[in-house]
Amino acid sequence: MSPSLLIDNIGQLVTNDPTVGCGPLGLVEDAALVLGDGVVQWAGPRHAVPQAAALERLDAEGRAVIPGFVDSHGHLVFAGDRTAEFSARMSGRPYTAGGIATTVTATRAATSNDLGLTVDRLLAEGLRSGTTTMECKSGYGLTVPDEQRSLRIAAERTDEVTYLGAHVVAPEYAGRADEYVDLVCGAMLEACAPHARWIDVFCERGAFDGDQTRQILRAGVARGLVPRVHANQLGHGPGVQLAVEFGAASADHATHLTDEDVAALASGTTVATLLPAAEFSTRATYPDARRLLDAGVTVALAADCNPGSSYTTNMPFCIAVAVRDLRMTPDEAVWSATLGGARALRRSDVGHLGVGARADAVLLDAPSHVHLAYRPGVPLVAAVWRAGVRMPTAVPLS
Ligand code: NIG
Ligand code: FE
Repeated sequence: MSPSLLIDNIGQLVTNDPTVGCGPLGLVEDAALVLGDGVVQWAGPRHAVPQAAALERLDAEGRAVIPGFVDSHGHLVFAGDRTAEFSARMSGRPYTAGGIATTVTATRAATSNDLGLTVDRLLAEGLRSGTTTMECKSGYGLTVPDEQRSLRIAAERTDEVTYLGAHVVAPEYAGRADEYVDLVCGAMLEACAPHARWIDVFCERGAFDGDQTRQILRAGVARGLVPRVHANQLGHGPGVQLAVEFGAASADHATHLTDEDVAALASGTTVATLLPAAEFSTRATYPDARRLLDAGVTVALAADCNPGSSYTTNMPFCIAVAVRDLRMTPDEAVWSATLGGARALRRSDVGHLGVGARADAVLLDAPSHVHLAYRPGVPLVAAVWRAGVRMPTAVPLS
């Protein structure tokens, strides 16, 4: 039994549990929250807090508390960076899938220790901005041992690990894409599946087409992995329809959509995971979250941290862009960055602060969750708990 903590005098508490508070955010004003044994013990109005509920009391002084962010899309196992590519892009060069090869070369050359340190640094960076669950993909190894190594490194650090051998065709297989697909579905899958929960494919011009995506997802499912798909990022393609057809947990990016794609998402169980920091950093057209939400699609927001198209772990930044440019309301954006991410990872224990949820909570230095969009760029995360344990929110310098 770990000692419990009462966070008292919360101005606004977002629980994402409509049985606890108002609306989809389960909002409680003048609230209290009790964390203990790694889970939420109690949440509600402070006048109703159970007497002697906790050993320790923290006065939030009217600030807001929200669930920890669930960032359901990250490419964290890599080496090097792509500063030059970013600068060139900001001077007018377009983003293409081809830049991935630069990171593949650097990643293969890196030691496992250095790759692990990078993942640790990015997870710590995410924590400081309130992210308590982070998904992590492979995809910069593209050989059997390099993909397996990336997944092993990821699995040592997070439960949400995704095999993305199908990021692009490995350079050694240039002009022999179908042979590479056979490798991804064969020996590479065999080596990687024990380390992963999910299988992902970058279904895009310059990466993998519809038939190849189908073959890879089918092989992954047969090996016990659950699909998620990089779909319709750079242009229209079959990715979203395939994601829905396979009952994928999510279709990620979902930027270039026909009415049929939107209808398919609305009729299925696949979450549309929007990654607005990628469009921001590639100066590309944003997805239209309003269109998806109005059609009844479940929308998640994620950071897509990677060295090429979106080198950020900052979910408050994604929320601000989603509100400003994807036409989400602040409430919708906060929900999508928390419970939406949990839905995209098929997790019921995170993304909310209902009783029994993992005690992942963020205290904001602001009176309301709306300030995450209203005060863009301001570091509002004052304290973070994961499984009830207070996390460091300062950069460790040695
Ligand atoms: O999600 N779209 C594919 N993968 C990444 C980009 C990877 C890279 O450019 O290195 C993304 O945006
Ligand atoms: Fe991605």
